[in-house]
Amino acid sequence: MSDDLRMGVIGCGGIAGAHLPAQRAVEGMRTVAVCDINEDTARAAAAEYEVPTVYTDWRDLVADDDVDAVAVLLPHHLHREPAVAAARAGKHVLCEKPMATALADCDAMIAAADEAGVVLMIAQILRFRPANIRARELIAEGAIGEVRNVLRRRLGKSEGFRSEWARHPEQAGGWVLYGFGSHEVDMILWLTGSEAGAVFAQARRNNEYWNDHDEVTVQMALSGGGMATYQHSLNCPWGAWECVVIGTDGAMMVDSARVRLADRVIDAPLDSAAAFRDQVGEFLRAVRAGDEPEASGRAVRPTYAVLEAARISIRDGVIVDAADL
Ligand SMILES: NC(=O)c1ccc[n+]([C@@H]2O[C@H](COP(=O)([O-])OP(=O)(O)OC[C@H]3O[C@@H](n4cnc5c(N)ncnc54)[C@H](O)[C@@H]3O)[C@@H](O)[C@H]2O)c1
Repeated sequence: MSDDLRMGVIGCGGIAGAHLPAQRAVEGMRTVAVCDINEDTARAAAAEYEVPTVYTDWRDLVADDDVDAVAVLLPHHLHREPAVAAARAGKHVLCEKPMATALADCDAMIAAADEAGVVLMIAQILRFRPANIRARELIAEGAIGEVRNVLRRRLGKSEGFRSEWARHPEQAGGWVLYGFGSHEVDMILWLTGSEAGAVFAQARRNNEYWNDHDEVTVQMALSGGGMATYQHSLNCPWGAWECVVIGTDGAMMVDSARVRLADRVIDAPLDSAAAFRDQVGEFLRAVRAGDEPEASGRAVRPTYAVLEAARISIRDGVIVDAADL
């Protein structure tokens, strides 16, 4: 117990409801402080998860000597400042996706963690889902040959999202591009073991509720010689969330629960709580081992280079080379 990694949670909104139980369930980790600008929210989380200390200013939590590591679970535009401050205070950082909404902010976070010698991990939860893990292994083993084309699409109708900041592009960075795209682009690169080169993206505003681009398509060249397209709509009455990967020697389809190949279906059921426990467990492992975690800040930087390239491409109507960013 005395050797437990003592966690401080900054932001006790929706996703804290997945991180707090995961922190409680992982042996060797203990939540010692929570912070939310809304005191009632922070107190409710502290009561539910028996956390002894409550803050309403993250600076106080970061200054707390009893906190070894922080989980930054804030709206997108607020990730950089507490992540950098926590690293400078010698605390390990697990930050929710998107890492940030500008590559310069990502780089500041990576530099702060490097200088302080602390772990910086981004909560790319899809990397901890069994179907994605299996698909990645199969691609690496050559099950479909060399990757030539990745078609990833996510369709749905999610009007009514409860957090107001998600509808403010200057805070969310673009709810589709950064909120969802940080998952989807990361999966394209991680599944295929690629980085991206040329990126061309288009976006449209469709439903005024979103006050933002709610139809997005991002096309990219992949470093292994393949190409990929990510398509997203928030205005489609039926849902779809799948990834087709086509190689020189076959193809696969990955969804939340299985991987389909030409000759077989591999079931890999999703247990969302288990994925969050595995994510938090990986953070703890890296802190203990003093090495890089899965989805370290550095490892996910190529994802955020693609998002930045896509943002510029949408704005200026040009092709942007993510490798130059
Ligand atoms: N992995 C996933 O699938 C997943 C799902 C949902 C959200 N997320 C990510 O988690 C992060 C948080 O999203 P959410 O859905 O929990 O948002 P939310 O709006 O539900 O919660 C954010 C919380 O932060 C608090 N807050 C705002 N400003 C603050 C400040 N300055 N100091 C302290 N607290 C402050 C708010 O009061 C709120 O309780 C985002 O980065 C989001 O993209 C990830």
